[in-house]
Amino acid sequence: MVIDMVKMPPEVQEVINKQSPVPVATADPDGKPNVIFVGFLRIVDDETIQIADNFFDKTAANMEANPQVSIVGYDGEAKKSFQVKGRVEIVTKGPVYEDVKAWVYAKSKALPAKAAVVMHVEEVYDAMYGPDAGKRIT
Ligand SMILES: Cc1cc2nc3c(=O)[nH]c(=O)nc-3n(C[C@H](O)[C@H](O)[C@H](O)COP(=O)(O)O)c2cc1C
Repeated sequence: MVIDMVKMPPEVQEVINKQSPVPVATADPDGKPNVIFVGFLRIVDDETIQIADNFFDKTAANMEANPQVSIVGYDGEAKKSFQVKGRVEIVTKGPVYEDVKAWVYAKSKALPAKAAVVMHVEEVYDAMYGPDAGKRIT
């Protein structure tokens, strides 16, 4: 898999870190969109986001068939909004999975922690209303 990763600037990370739950959009192979809320989403470095799959259904099927996802955040106080797009890898064993499972279990051992979803950031857009709406940042 060839991935063109980009770095999320600090202000983008701040908005995503404050956004909870985070809307996560996927699409099926026919292009039908699907959007859900996710509480377990964290930025692990400038170009990588982890998401815990506890209950993904259509989302899991979509990610399997089409790894492209998009998330969005809005900070009403800072008046900033950003959209982040990337590709996901589904991880069900190994250190990254164990780390995500520990994060989920720290909240509740009743949660299934089915998989770790690792999102490699490829595009970042300004999504705030105004003159820069829709413009690519990185
Ligand atoms: C506030 C909120 C937070 C949620 N957080 C997560 C989460 O962190 N992980 C997860 O797998 N599902 C989470 N869900 C469930 C998903 O939003 C969704 O219901 C599930 O993926 C099934 O929908 P789908 O068939 O579109 O995938 C959350 C739901 C809500 C309402």
